[in-house]
Amino acid sequence: MEQEARIVINGGKPLFGKVHINGAKNAALAIVPAALAANGVCVIDNLPDIEDVNSLRKAITSLGAVCVQRDAATLEIDARNITRYAIGKEAVAHIRASYYFLGVLLGRFGKAEVPTPGGCDLNVGPRMIDYHMRGFKALGATTYQDEHVIRVEADKLIGADIHLDSPSVGATINIMMAAVYAEGVTTIDNAAKEPHVVDTANFLNRLGAKIKGAGTDTIRITGVTEMTGGDYTVIPDQIETGTYMIAAAITGGDVTVENIIPKHMESLSAKLRDVGCTVDEGLENIRVRVQGPLKSSNVRTGVYPGFPTDLQPQITTLLCTVQGKSTVTETIFDNRFLYTHELQKLGAKINVNGRAAKTCGSCTFTGGEVRAVDLRAGAAMVLAGLAAQGEVRIANIHHLERGYERFEEKFRALGADIQRVEINAMPGADGELRPLV
Ligand code: EPZ
Repeated sequence: MEQEARIVINGGKPLFGKVHINGAKNAALAIVPAALAANGVCVIDNLPDIEDVNSLRKAITSLGAVCVQRDAATLEIDARNITRYAIGKEAVAHIRASYYFLGVLLGRFGKAEVPTPGGCDLNVGPRMIDYHMRGFKALGATTYQDEHVIRVEADKLIGADIHLDSPSVGATINIMMAAVYAEGVTTIDNAAKEPHVVDTANFLNRLGAKIKGAGTDTIRITGVTEMTGGDYTVIPDQIETGTYMIAAAITGGDVTVENIIPKHMESLSAKLRDVGCTVDEGLENIRVRVQGPLKSSNVRTGVYPGFPTDLQPQITTLLCTVQGKSTVTETIFDNRFLYTHELQKLGAKINVNGRAAKTCGSCTFTGGEVRAVDLRAGAAMVLAGLAAQGEVRIANIHHLERGYERFEEKFRALGADIQRVEINAMPGADGELRPLV
């Protein structure tokens, strides 16, 4: 017999109060590996205390860097004596973004090897990193990839003009990290502009890199010969912020998210006002209130500053409950509506056709058993549970633990009836754990 965790929510309670937002997961997943670019010591704080960051700590230690966890949110990384350039599968088994080690190790040492990233749940087929590899080749690297490993190496990296087919966040960050030591100037055209791209560039500049234009379509990197250490504070998490803002809306509550950057939330704030929420912005906080019935609105995800794809499951869940029909169009990934099957188990009426989901609205979620199909889909299940009339039990919550620090505790502090329970389970014939009833 084994133990399996579930999140159990008795919904229907409006959330009230203030919630402190942690550091950005997707900035941390880039900045922690980027610290290996420094021939010195880096102190990075405001890191979220989540599984993915813990895995990164083990991965950089496996390379010979010295990594001291000063406190739950602060890592001290000394990358002066790195002895290995290959990351083992066991070190990054659960991190999709292990590919960032390619760019930073190629940039500093001229060689790197990482396990081929796991399948991408959000697209049909393998996780694509062709833009990353094309960028490395443009800088003079040779690349190798099979179903097990990805290897890059170069005797010397020379600055190049690189144009991305689409503004990929990962490719922008990875090529930027590879180019910091390249001889001459590298330009990345059609670059991603997400807040965590800018945060990574700011961090690298703190270490001595020369990067200009991060946050615009064109980033220019002038190669340097030495980068020492430095201290840095990671930006607040745009997606965690948005998840709690939507939680206020879907429960009809009044919640203030604190320690945030309101500018990063503009597309969501506008959408929540559009459906009828009152959204008040302070210097480092946003208050979301519901003062009457909410109405439908259409959403189209896009690259920053468009509506973030990582808030698509959450806003779609809200739109199931408002008055009227809404259409949500997903332009970034081609398979990011799998979670709607789980919402339908709670009574949602959603029709998905390719990259568009149409919600019928006016749905009151019932109780039931659902599972988190991925990280942001898991957040959507929590939101549905918070709004449901009845008890919602969520399985596969390891996805949630990868990206949301202490979310049960934070939601409980806002008035939610949410618990994590361990249940007895037995593996079935297919090896899948099944709860013992
Ligand atoms: C980052 O993924 C985020 N992950 C994702 O967040 C986020 O959804 C995504 O950016 C878009 O904002 C991290 O930062 C760790 P992309 P990334 O490269 O870099 C295609 C979460 O929940 N593409 O911008 O992988 C790709 O297939 C996660 O926190 C190529 O075709 O995203 C996708 O369709 C989920 N070839 C699109 O571009 C490439 O070489 C966007 O991908 C690279 C990407």
